[in-house]
Amino acid sequence: MPFDDSTDDTTPDEKPDKEHDAKTAPTPPSRRALLGWGGAGLALGAAAAGGAMAAVRDGDTAAPAAESGAAVPFHGRHQAGIATDVQDRLHFAAFDVTTEDRAELVQLLKDWTRAAERMAAGHAVGEGAYGGLPEAPPDDTGEALGLKPSRLTLTVGFGPGLFAKDRFGLAERRPAALVELPKFPGDNLDPARGGGDLCVQACADDPQVAVHAIRNLARIGFGKVAVRWSQLGFGKTSSTTPGAQTPRNLFGFKDGTSNIAGTDTAALDKHVWVSEADGPGWLAGGSYLVARRISMRIETWDRTSLQEQEDVFGRDKGEGAAVGKAREHDKPNLKAMLPTSHVRLAHPDSHHGARMLRRGYSFTDGTDGLGRLDAGLFFLAYQRDVRDAFIPVQRSLARSDALNEYIQHVGSAVFAIPPGVRDKDDWWGRALIS
Ligand code: HEM
Repeated sequence: MPFDDSTDDTTPDEKPDKEHDAKTAPTPPSRRALLGWGGAGLALGAAAAGGAMAAVRDGDTAAPAAESGAAVPFHGRHQAGIATDVQDRLHFAAFDVTTEDRAELVQLLKDWTRAAERMAAGHAVGEGAYGGLPEAPPDDTGEALGLKPSRLTLTVGFGPGLFAKDRFGLAERRPAALVELPKFPGDNLDPARGGGDLCVQACADDPQVAVHAIRNLARIGFGKVAVRWSQLGFGKTSSTTPGAQTPRNLFGFKDGTSNIAGTDTAALDKHVWVSEADGPGWLAGGSYLVARRISMRIETWDRTSLQEQEDVFGRDKGEGAAVGKAREHDKPNLKAMLPTSHVRLAHPDSHHGARMLRRGYSFTDGTDGLGRLDAGLFFLAYQRDVRDAFIPVQRSLARSDALNEYIQHVGSAVFAIPPGVRDKDDWWGRALIS
């Protein structure tokens, strides 16, 4: 269980329900409501976030939360949305910071945190979507009213640009491991689909809840940040829940068979969480995220023989077993696979034990203009150091992977992921920038 329970401020009777919350919003609204949302409803939000914990604390944290559309605890040593169970839907957004004022950036991060606490608990932002002053726009946009929390998690990250010299005075605090990714063979990166000073990964079981969350954070950030690019995802392509059915990607193969489980604290400490000793101190308990938009030529794949498809991965299509093995989770024999097979090349044994926690989603975004679906995998991987994990693994995949005939990397970004928000007084990035 990755969360530190010491910050539990649970109010067991509280119901995480957006409609309930909106209807009971305090009236009359504060002056802040007149000026737009600026962090109002803080105390209410904190209690709400704590209240939501009750929904998942008392029992098994996996299945009941998923079935009931319940809330995932927002506070903890690590941000939710990494080791926590993978939800069905994604809305990911990268932002450029447009303000040059450090104090405005700090206020934005505080406001985002308070809003995220509320939304994760299933509550409307600030003082709600209606019932306030008729002369002012409401604090919340309203499309999530009446929807369950849907296990919404919001995970924030800081891109390399935030640490640029003469920008916010953070150059000295840039983590050594927050490197720009090298250009890999075969990359066809669109700058409009990559980079960003900040990112927010919103995952939920209901797509409207995820989209509502990003939309409201973008709204709160108006004049301070601008959306640089964003990505919707469906059909998770990895699981962090041992025992759960492994999801399948758009090539029809089980994806995430060999992933780091959210319950495997030893593996998380070794491969995902940045330690105090790694430094910098402000990032301890955090991680690094690599995001890659990868186009998949599904029409070409669909005309490829089953044997070729299975050779490409080194696993069979039905069970997901490695070559020569019977069951999905039987230990792979890498030497039995073709030297160009994806699993052989990506396996930790081929990279001095390097592992990452994959948490990607499938996407389809209309057509590619040539009569084919613009489809693919939005690859998301969390790791302790990209220089030991994503970079060497992708170098080897880019050079030799048989899969390259069917895929192309078209978008790329890297972010430092700060540790979790400890309690209602804490906020995203406090240790970095306060
Ligand atoms: C569209 C692109 C990709 C597809 C369709 C894909 C698909 C798969 C599939 C089907 C598996 C086997 C099941 C499993 O263990 O999850 C797998 C394993 C894996 N993939 Fe990918 N993958 C893609 C891109 C990448 C990239 C870019 C990386 C990292 C640079 C990566 C890293 C891994 C790793 C580490 C494993 C586990 C290997 C093991 O321990 O056995 N994959 N992938």
